[in-house]
Amino acid sequence: MGEVFASAPFVVGKSEPSPIDSHIPAEEALCPVLANDWVNDEYKHMVLAASAKALAVNPGQFFNLLCPSPDAGELWLRRPQSVYRIDRANGRIEFLYKCVGRGTHGLATAKPGDTLNIVGPLGVGFHLDPAWKNIVVLGRGVGLATLAPISQLAGENGVGVTAILSARSRDLVMADDLFAKVGTVVPVLDADRSSDVANVERIIEGLISAKLADAFFTCGSNRLMQLMKRLGKARGIPGQVAMEQVMACGLGPCYVCVRTFEVNGKKELRRVCIEGPVFDLQEAVGW
Ligand SMILES: Cc1cc2nc3c(=O)[nH]c(=O)nc-3n(C[C@H](O)[C@H](O)[C@H](O)COP(=O)(O)OP(=O)(O)OC[C@H]3O[C@@H](n4cnc5c(N)ncnc54)[C@H](O)[C@@H]3O)c2cc1C
Ligand code: FES
Repeated sequence: MGEVFASAPFVVGKSEPSPIDSHIPAEEALCPVLANDWVNDEYKHMVLAASAKALAVNPGQFFNLLCPSPDAGELWLRRPQSVYRIDRANGRIEFLYKCVGRGTHGLATAKPGDTLNIVGPLGVGFHLDPAWKNIVVLGRGVGLATLAPISQLAGENGVGVTAILSARSRDLVMADDLFAKVGTVVPVLDADRSSDVANVERIIEGLISAKLADAFFTCGSNRLMQLMKRLGKARGIPGQVAMEQVMACGLGPCYVCVRTFEVNGKKELRRVCIEGPVFDLQEAVGW
C-alpha cells in the first residue's frame, strides 16, 4: 500500500475522496485547466475541472490560487480569487480575473492541459433571506466577478435581480450575460458619465419606489458601497458587501487581511479571509 500524506493535494480526476477529512469543507487540489481566455484587454476567464469539495463553493466565497511565475523569479504567496461561476453539472468552477501584477500575469500563462493548485473554498459567502423577492446588485471592476454568482443564487431561489454594473466603458461591463438570465441589467459607464454617483442614486431610488429593492449587494467600489450603505440605512434595506483585501494565508492565522469595521458605534478589527469576505453593509467602513 502506498504511503498517505496528510498534506498531499487532492488530484482532480485521480484521487478518491477521503472519508477521513470528509468533514473539512476546504482542501488543496490540483485542478486541470480547461480554458483560460481573454475576454477583453484586461480580464481573463479561467475554467477548471473541480473536485466535489470545490464544487460545494458558495457565491462570494473564494479560492487561494498558486499562480505560476510569469518570469524566471519565484512567486511568493497564493492569490485570492472569488468564484465567478459554479458549473456543478459539468464539474467545473470558473474565475474571471484582472491581470494586474506578477501573480495574475503568471495565471494568464496557464494553458488547457496544465494543472493549477488551488485551496478552497474559503471564507463566508453571500446569503439570501427567503423573504426577499427582489434584490439590487451594484458592482464595479473586479467586483463584478465576485458578484456574478449571485445571479446563480437568485435563479435557484426564484429571486428577481436588478444588476447595476459600473465600468469605464461598455467592453468592461462583465457578467451582464449571467445577470440578464435572471433579471435586468443596467450598465452605467464612465464614458457617458452614467456611472456618476448621483445618477446611480437616482436609479436605486427608482428601484426602491418600485418595490424592487428588498436587499442590496455590492463589491468593487468604495464610493458605490458608501452610496448603498447610506441608502440602506435611510430606507431600512439590509445589505451585504464583499470586501477585497491583500491576503497571505487566506485561512485565518496570519492577520495580514485585517480591516476595521464599525459595530454599534464601536470599531472592531476583523479578518477578511475568514470572517468575510462578505460582511453586513452597515458594519463596513470605507477605504
Ligand atoms: C476575497 C478576494 C476575492 C478576489 N476576487 C477577485 C476576482 O474574482 N477577480 C479579480 O480580478 N481579482 C480578485 N481579487 C483581487 C486579486 O486577489 C488581486 O488582483 C491579485 O491578488 C493581485 O495579484 P498580482 O500578483 O497579480 O498583483 P500584485 O502585484 O500583488 O498587486 C497588483 C495590484 O493589485 C492590488 N492587489 C493585490 N492583492 C490584492 C487583493 N487581495 N485585493 C485587491 N487588490 C489587490 C495591489 O495593491 C496592486 O495595486 C480578489 C481579492 C480578494 C481578497
Ligand atoms: S490572510 Fe491570513 S489571516 Fe487573513
